[in-house]
Amino acid sequence: MKRILFVVALAVASACLAAETVPLTSLDLANLHFEGWSKPKVDKAFNGKPLSIAGQKFRNGIGTRALSTLWLELDGRAQKFLASVGVDDGAPNEAASACFIIIGDGKKLWTSGAMKRGEAAKAVDINLKGIRSLLLKVDHVGESNNFNHADWAEPRFIVAGAKPRTVNAPAEKKVILTPKPPRAPRINGPKVYGCRPGHPFIYRIPTTGERPMQFAADGLPSTLRLDAETGIITGNAPARGGHTVTFRARNRYGSATRAFKIVSGDTLALTPPMGWNHWYAHYNRVTDVMMREAADVMVRTGMADVGYSYVNIDDCWMNAPSADLRRPTDPLRVGPFRDAAGNIIPNKHFPNMRALTDYIHAKGLKAGIYTSPGPLTCGGYCGAYQHEEQDARLFAEWGFDFLKYDWCSYSKVAAADKSLDMMKKPYVLMGGILKRLPRDVVFNLCQYGMGDVWEWGAEIGGHCWRTAGDLGAELNRIFAVALKNAEHRAWSKPGAWNDPDYIQIGYVGDARGEGMPKPCPLTPTEQYSFMSLWSLMAAPLFYSGDMSQLDPFTLNVLCNPEVIEVNQDPLGDSAAVVKLTDDTFLMVKRMEDGSRAVGLCNRGELPATITAKWSDLGITGKKIVRDLWRQRDLGKFHGQFTAPVPRHGVVLVRVR
Ligand code: GLA
Repeated sequence: MKRILFVVALAVASACLAAETVPLTSLDLANLHFEGWSKPKVDKAFNGKPLSIAGQKFRNGIGTRALSTLWLELDGRAQKFLASVGVDDGAPNEAASACFIIIGDGKKLWTSGAMKRGEAAKAVDINLKGIRSLLLKVDHVGESNNFNHADWAEPRFIVAGAKPRTVNAPAEKKVILTPKPPRAPRINGPKVYGCRPGHPFIYRIPTTGERPMQFAADGLPSTLRLDAETGIITGNAPARGGHTVTFRARNRYGSATRAFKIVSGDTLALTPPMGWNHWYAHYNRVTDVMMREAADVMVRTGMADVGYSYVNIDDCWMNAPSADLRRPTDPLRVGPFRDAAGNIIPNKHFPNMRALTDYIHAKGLKAGIYTSPGPLTCGGYCGAYQHEEQDARLFAEWGFDFLKYDWCSYSKVAAADKSLDMMKKPYVLMGGILKRLPRDVVFNLCQYGMGDVWEWGAEIGGHCWRTAGDLGAELNRIFAVALKNAEHRAWSKPGAWNDPDYIQIGYVGDARGEGMPKPCPLTPTEQYSFMSLWSLMAAPLFYSGDMSQLDPFTLNVLCNPEVIEVNQDPLGDSAAVVKLTDDTFLMVKRMEDGSRAVGLCNRGELPATITAKWSDLGITGKKIVRDLWRQRDLGKFHGQFTAPVPRHGVVLVRVR
């Protein structure tokens, strides 16, 4: 008996002894996702100063900023998580706030509620027994984004078993939802197309189905000709006015027709432009070879068959002054800015711009280019300052069809006042120049939404404008960005689009540096949500990932014609937001045929059940609801439609 007691006592003692304190800061924090630029700090606040909550200083902890998430896997034998939390005293804005949330195995274990700067730290002491998946989250309070610096002070686990392990996000299977296109032709893409009379015209009829295929176009204006085998229309834009054409496509499996309206007038981009931009894949590594490859892949993978058409070069095609600021070792990007006549000189990675656009055009695609109104671009390369007209003319001569015009370094040369006129000035100038060119050039403003650009972007000749900073640094907030962007929906219309930045799925680089492309950090559900939200917002649809590493999953997200149809709807409505709870909302887009495209959106960390009431959609009666990702009717519904929506998910339906 004594012996048994002794053994039991020993077991209890060793179990107690085995309980170990593991500081959170001792774990791999590469998986800590946070919002924006800069980086969360260990043992320091986000601003690099000591961790400090309402005057109380802490030696150990993590200084991050909302929105930030850290997922951990436990073995079920962790006992406790302890910490003190609060908004850091160094948060630059007095109104800074944050809400700490801890979720274990899909259940909310603890929340701090809304906390303000200056409020005393709150103690966290939670029981983790049996828990295997843990999320430490710092959220914004409401929509506020006041540089919400937030501290996990002295965060630590008491564990009896293995140390907790940080992970990227809960594992999810990559499920392909988009059905394979049928073998018979299906004509996709926009139903309306804007061009300017007499200008060079190029349009590849986006059509899925097996090749060879024969194309025809009834009612095609005489200034245009169609290549019956490739489906590429070239020539010069017809006389001013609307021209209704019927496209036909036929192969051994069947045939398809589609009405298409060419509107020759003053407005381009009657539907959101679609294509690819090199930035988030190749940064300052971009070359002529990569651009050609992107065009090849766009056709080969079928992206062009569902409507992607622009192949756009971003920054770093020009020369840098002495050393390329981001990659000082590449001498091929260093050289004179301009020749004796003032013409800009592409760097050695771009031996012949005209040959490059010819290559892209030969595939029926369009080419885009980038510059900045200041003396230098954002990457530190030659900008357009004082050569605006000359550069724009050269871009058109080279054959470019799209110009992205940044802002970087312009403030250095602009008048010191921060007036709206000063902000508009470079865009007014370039907008005027582009309108006078003998070529259709879509004008994309990239000044991050300054001066409420959505209010004046169209009147100065812009077709789309970035509404915020670079999304690459904030991929964890696609929902927040979508909600913010949707606030400007009143200005979205044919020829005028709010641009929340590029679709970054598949293989992308790290926007904060010059990282080589690697799998994007978003879960499969989040990648579908990305595309659903961008389609509902009628955002320009530019993929910006590595075209040479496109996999079937990424292509299924990018290339669902029914989802793209929502984006390309001729009405040009950008979805209205109907808020339901803190975590859930609807996005409702009116479609030209009277139907509604609806996103049931869950930005929260837990699955939710969401109901779209007809009254919120502005409709009545019995309606057919179609699941657009699966391209399947779900049945007839009366008054409302309810669906389970996963964490960070969007259920995208069309109600007709
Ligand atoms: C800015 C833009 C990006 C990209 C880079 C290029 O950051 O917002 O989209 O064009 O410049 O340097």
